[in-house]
Amino acid sequence: MAIIAPSLLACNFLQLEKECEMINSSKAEWFHLDIMDGRFVPNLSFGLPIVEHIRKTTQKVLDVHLMIEEPEKYAEAFKKAGADILTVHIEACNHLHRNIQQIKHLGMKAGVALNPHTPVRFLEDIIEDIDLVCLMSVNPGFGGQQFIPNTINKIRALRKLMHERNANPLIEIDGGVTLDNATALIHTGATVLVAGSTVFNSANPVETIQQLYNL
Ligand code: DX5
Ligand code: ZN
Repeated sequence: MAIIAPSLLACNFLQLEKECEMINSSKAEWFHLDIMDGRFVPNLSFGLPIVEHIRKTTQKVLDVHLMIEEPEKYAEAFKKAGADILTVHIEACNHLHRNIQQIKHLGMKAGVALNPHTPVRFLEDIIEDIDLVCLMSVNPGFGGQQFIPNTINKIRALRKLMHERNANPLIEIDGGVTLDNATALIHTGATVLVAGSTVFNSANPVETIQQLYNL
């Protein structure tokens, strides 16, 4: 069983409150919130005011995925907006260790995300300091893309590294997660599954979340 983190990127923003209530009434333990800056990724999404509003609707964990450059400039603001977990991209951080310390000092859990082309071994000297590794299973920037199969190999490599370093971060998979590939991901070692279109494009999102927990 993995923690299911529905990604609001795929929700109907005209009905944001209802969508949050839907997640609240479901088994999902986390909200996954995708923040894009149009620089690190070729797309824009939403920002701090939306995170603040979502915070008011829920007690569940807010898992904030920053697809932005210079994340250190915004870490404190996301803490104030209600983030519980703040994930930064390794490709966007020249001073990753400093960024991780900043996030932890602010009282949040710290995550590091890796793009599909970034080897897991780049985490060698930081793995003991982080609470979550987010393996991107699509190129970040858009929902509804196809899962990249090599992600399975990366989960294996990550587990090996974790074992060698005696570290225990959560393993989050983000992008293209479906009811069809989720079982293999969980069996290989994923502990958090992000699901955007699989949840929000389904006829019964609450039931789909339940199905993901049943795997
Ligand atoms: C992609 C985002 C994902 C996205 C996943 O850049 O990080 O969280 O919302 O969407 P699906 O599940 O539709 O691939
Ligand atoms: Zn994401």
